Amino acid sequence: MGTKPIKRHDAIKPYSREHHHGLLLCWKIREGFKHNIELKRIKDYADYMWETQIKPHFDAEEKYMFPVLGKEHEMIQQAYKEHRRLASLFNEKVEIQKALETIQTELDEHIRFEERVLFNKIQEVATKEELDIIDKHHENLGADNWQDNFWKEFKKKRK
Ligand SMILES: [Fe+2]
Ligand SMILES: [Fe+2]
Repeated sequence: MGTKPIKRHDAIKPYSREHHHGLLLCWKIREGFKHNIELKRIKDYADYMWETQIKPHFDAEEKYMFPVLGKEHEMIQQAYKEHRRLASLFNEKVEIQKALETIQTELDEHIRFEERVLFNKIQEVATKEELDIIDKHHENLGADNWQDNFWKEFKKKRK
């Protein structure tokens, strides 16, 4: 088996860019905890990212990418399971700190699974028509306009 990374198809690149933002969210949550940022501020940002970026990203994957392999495929079953689990963590209203800590590790793992395993497989088997659908139907998500950048606070304080 070759170990060379597979070049991402253009149709899939926007999804990979969003993964980068997802990994950043995990990092920001981690920073927030490390520097004792008030839980509500971390949660408000996580809620904003869920509604504006992550949920629409999951929806687009489920609608346009996952059908390439089909619901019976074990990788797709894993991906659906992780989407459901992450949705319930983002929607947790009581054990918020625990949920955010779990999101921080599990969203990271989910993205790495998609980037290293699932997307390679989808790219390998997708037809030209399927890649067109993946490309065409994906709405490019807007920028992250959140104002309360708590993850930058620590840097400021050190100066
Ligand atoms: Fe996903
Ligand atoms: Fe994803």
